[in-house]
Amino acid sequence: MDQTQQPKHLWWQKGIIYQIYPRSFMDSNADGVGDIQGIITKLDYLQWLGIQAIWVSPVYPSPMADFGYDIADYTGIHPLFGSLKDFDALLKQVHGRGMKLILDLVPNHSSDQHPWFLESRSSRDNPKRDWYLWHDPGKDGGPPNNWLSVFGGSGWEWDETTSQYYYHAFLKEQPDLNWRNPEVQQAMLDAMRFWMDRGVDGFRVDVMWHMVKDNQWRNNPPNPDYKPHMATYEKLTPAYSTDQPEVHEIVGMMRRLMDEYEDRLIIGEIYLPIHKLVTYYGINNQGAHLPFNFQLIALPWNARQISSTIDQYEGALPANGWPNWVLGNHDQSRIASRVGKSQARVAAMLLLTLRGTPTIYYGDEIGMHDVAIPEEEVQDPQGLNMPGLNLSRDPFRTPMQWDDSLNAAFTTGKPWLRLAEDYKRNNVQAQKDDAESMLTLYRRLIELRNTEPALHIGNYIPVYTENDLLAFIREADKRFLVVLNLSHAPGYFTPTDVEIHGRILLSTCADRQLNEVQGKITLNGDEGLLIELF
Ligand code: GLC
Repeated sequence: MDQTQQPKHLWWQKGIIYQIYPRSFMDSNADGVGDIQGIITKLDYLQWLGIQAIWVSPVYPSPMADFGYDIADYTGIHPLFGSLKDFDALLKQVHGRGMKLILDLVPNHSSDQHPWFLESRSSRDNPKRDWYLWHDPGKDGGPPNNWLSVFGGSGWEWDETTSQYYYHAFLKEQPDLNWRNPEVQQAMLDAMRFWMDRGVDGFRVDVMWHMVKDNQWRNNPPNPDYKPHMATYEKLTPAYSTDQPEVHEIVGMMRRLMDEYEDRLIIGEIYLPIHKLVTYYGINNQGAHLPFNFQLIALPWNARQISSTIDQYEGALPANGWPNWVLGNHDQSRIASRVGKSQARVAAMLLLTLRGTPTIYYGDEIGMHDVAIPEEEVQDPQGLNMPGLNLSRDPFRTPMQWDDSLNAAFTTGKPWLRLAEDYKRNNVQAQKDDAESMLTLYRRLIELRNTEPALHIGNYIPVYTENDLLAFIREADKRFLVVLNLSHAPGYFTPTDVEIHGRILLSTCADRQLNEVQGKITLNGDEGLLIELF
């Protein structure tokens, strides 16, 4: 179908999303942890960068066992980050700039300190008992089944007071809610309504595919691909603890609520293969608007595999299902560390020229890389619970590098996590006016994407390539050819199925002449080209 013929494109289809990990973005009160007022002071930067929407990782009250992904109050703001008043000010400032604000919602589990759980665990006949997943021991007196926690060990925690186990897909401090219970559904929808009434533009729904579990509690089968260096969770295939058919009813419920409001967005965090991922668009697109597509994170950096996956994804999308692409987030090694500095520039061009909404992880636009955190400074529970497996996510959550002053101007206090040692060279201030910087490349790509309909709403046409090259055309009123060299070695692009005559608009190699090209194209190693076709 010709995608440009759709009647109207919405903000979240045309624009770019930027993820802020609030602890690490900007600290306004010298406590070493980023906050809402800090974000407000950086909105001009985000506007200058050209992004459309900000997604903020959780800022709700939380004991911070999983840095905010353990929520103790779904309708408040943690004092570390500010107050509801600060939040309203942020929302106003974001909207004043024509931008949108997306909140993180963590409905699969709450904190074990949430009043709901405190009640639920207090006695077997408490009215909220059934809000969580309580079970008697299995036949052997151990856990009810073999389900594992993503963060290591069994997914079941024994509770002395009431002599039952409760299930937690993540930490034991993050008990899973019982989404089959209509009261739970109502309570969470009410919380969503609270934020939507305040003017929030959408939610990124945490671990959406986890929300409903098998109602017979069957054991998960072993994972034949498990290797000892992997997290213990990988020992089993979570066939019964995740991605149950009934989850789509819950997603549909959330979507119906969003549809009561104008122009809101629901994103789902879903780590599943493409054929399963696309089911989260829902029947007739009544599910999530954007089930996050993590293929660029999951795949090896290989042109053949990436190009065939792009085609597979394009082919699997339901009619009118809008694509999206993600290169990094707070759970994944940074792109600059995964593929190297030079290829990170090629990756930026890929992310920002593909068809579908791109999500940029804070700091990737200045090429931030994973930072080695000494063992005694590790904070992430995933790292602490499974020592020796190198699973801490701290390295990709280090403070944003604003300038070359103390702590890169992130804080005047002691940063909660150490900064990259190279921050004096590598920061927003230094890169802003440097024609060859990553930031300049990002800004130019964003500008082109925002101004050229072909790049934000145009069709995607795959182009056959050989070796380590990846190529495609984006087409609307104009046509653009993107050719990316995913190797360090120079290469030739000799198209067999398209006529090439155009002008290079942008190269990831700063010294490239922006001249006309015809027929064969020569690429440097690590070079990506954006060519406007005549
Ligand atoms: C999601 C979040 C991750 C968190 C987990 C549990 O995957 O992105 O940071 O630890 O859910 O809430």
